[in-house]
Amino acid sequence: MRLFLDTANIDEIRHAADLGVLAGVTTNPTLIAKEVGVPYRDRVIEIARLVDGPISAECLSRTADELVEEARAIAAWHPNVVVKIPIDEEGLKAIARLSREGIRINTTLIFSTNQALLAATAGATYVSPFVGRLDDIGEDGMALVREIVTIFDRFHIPTQVLAASLRHPRHVVEAAQAGAHIATIPYSVLLSMLKHPLTDIGIERFLSDYQRALTNLGSGATKEGEQTMISGKGTR
Ligand code: G3P
Repeated sequence: MRLFLDTANIDEIRHAADLGVLAGVTTNPTLIAKEVGVPYRDRVIEIARLVDGPISAECLSRTADELVEEARAIAAWHPNVVVKIPIDEEGLKAIARLSREGIRINTTLIFSTNQALLAATAGATYVSPFVGRLDDIGEDGMALVREIVTIFDRFHIPTQVLAASLRHPRHVVEAAQAGAHIATIPYSVLLSMLKHPLTDIGIERFLSDYQRALTNLGSGATKEGEQTMISGKGTR
């Protein structure tokens, strides 16, 4: 399962890219709205230059014709850009037309398996089931991911399942177990995935044990002692 970052914040993206685990980025109008004073197009191009992977940018038009126009323009921003279109009747028509032109679509706001099936049938490259928002209303968001993955596998449907609206590290594990091809996660969730208090305690203990061992070798012999500790051989 590949990891995407769900953000439009350039510092977060830069840091995640530095960690060497970032395969792509998803953005949406809400995330862009948090980045005060940055035009959407400029930010998406900036991200695409930083991250060598799919970068999703969302359409805002409400009719199929307008969506097609807008999507063509967005797709031209950068070769890595994938166009996000919400699933509804107009969205579906636009997805079918754009997919025939070879424009990659990430179908967003997927809340049912039937929506995912329709998007895939229309040729979408990705479908994004929103896990957390289903959990919010008392449904099982991850069950949706599982059901979509099972059906796509069964019929060898090439559309990839991009688990979205993931809110905590356990969601990431469950998305992987469910067979999602991609998990898109907030920056805070990425950092939480890395952390474990026992790892921090373990590192502290290794370092203090090592210092104590050096001290036990005696003052003045620190350089030699260090050599001995590292090589395991005496330095007579
Ligand atoms: O990728 C979709 C995501 O941005 C929505 O997340 O937490 O607003 O449901 P959330």
